[in-house]
Amino acid sequence: MSQFPVRRMRRLRRTPGLRRLVQETHLVPSQLVWPLFVRHGTGVRQEVSALPGVYQTSVDELVKDAERAASLGLGGIILFGLPAEKDATGSEAYDEQGIVQQAIRAVKRAVPDLVVMADLCLCEYTDHGHCGVIADGDVDNDATVYLLGKAAVVQARAGADIVAPSDMMDGRVAGIRKALDAAGFSRVPIMSYAAKMASAFYGPFREAAGSTPQFGDRQSYQMQGANADEALREIRLDLDEGADIVMVKPALPCLDVIRRAKEEFGAPIAAYQVSGEYAMIKAAAARGMLDENRAMWETLYAIRRAGADIVLSYFAPPAAEALG
Ligand code: PBG
Repeated sequence: MSQFPVRRMRRLRRTPGLRRLVQETHLVPSQLVWPLFVRHGTGVRQEVSALPGVYQTSVDELVKDAERAASLGLGGIILFGLPAEKDATGSEAYDEQGIVQQAIRAVKRAVPDLVVMADLCLCEYTDHGHCGVIADGDVDNDATVYLLGKAAVVQARAGADIVAPSDMMDGRVAGIRKALDAAGFSRVPIMSYAAKMASAFYGPFREAAGSTPQFGDRQSYQMQGANADEALREIRLDLDEGADIVMVKPALPCLDVIRRAKEEFGAPIAAYQVSGEYAMIKAAAARGMLDENRAMWETLYAIRRAGADIVLSYFAPPAAEALG
C-alpha cells in the first residue's frame, strides 16, 4: 500500500537547514575520549608509522596534549604506557614510578578537571607481550587478576579518574573492585573492556604500544568475533561484578553488540574505534581512495547511532575541533 505521492521522504532532505533539523544522532566533544601513548624521556614526540597523527610522547609532551584535550572539551583521555623495561610479570604496570603513574600525576597537576582514564593491562609491560602472566604456556587467569588489582591501586593512587581493564581475564572486574575498595578507592569507577573481540584491527596499536605477543595469539582470552550472545554474557558478568561503564571493541565490526548492550542493560556503553579502524581510513585517504573527513564522521555517527554513549577514537581531536 504505497503512500506515494503524499509521502515524499525527499522533502526533508532538500536543504542543509532541513537536514540539520531532522538529524537524529548527535555527537558532542564530551562523548569523545582520546587514546594517548606515553613513554620515558623528555621532549619525545615520535609518530607511530602505522597511525599518522598518533604519537608516543614523553610526559612533558603528553601534558601539552592533555591541555589540548581539555581546551577541546573532550570527555577524557585514556593512557597507555611504554615501560623502560619489560619482564615476565609486567612489573612496571604496578610500580608507583611506572610511566603511566608518572603521567597521571603530571596531567592531573596541569589540568585537574580533565578526566584521565588509565588503561589497565599487562601486555605493554610483559616481555612476552601477553595480557597476563604465563603458566604452562597459557595466561594464568587468577594470578593475572591479582596483579591487575595491584596496578589499579597504583593508578588510583596516582590520581586516575577511571581505571579501564582491557585484559579479558575472568573475574577481573570483581578482583579490581575489591582491591580498589580495600585500598580506600571505592570512589574510583571501572570502565571494563567487557566485550573485546580477538581482532585484526588492533594491529597498528601493537606497534604504538609495543605489545605484540611474542608467541601465540590472544584467542584464549579475547572473544571470537562471530559471537554476539557471548558478548552480551561478558557484558552482564562485568556489570554484575561492578563495572560502571562497559566497553565494546572494536566498534565498527560490533555495531550490533553495541545496540544490543544498550537495549539490554541501559548502562553507559563505550565503544572503541580501534587503531586498525583509524589506520584503514587514513591509508585509504592518503591514496585518494576516500574522503577522510567524511569517512571519519560517517563512522563516528554510526557508532553513536548504534548506541554508544562514549566513543574512544584517535579522531577525537579533529572531530572535537570541527564540532566547536
Ligand atoms: C591492551 C589493549 C589493546 C588495545 C587496547 N588495549 C591491544 C590488544 O588487545 O591487543 C587495542 C586498541 C587499538 O587497537 O587501538 N590489551
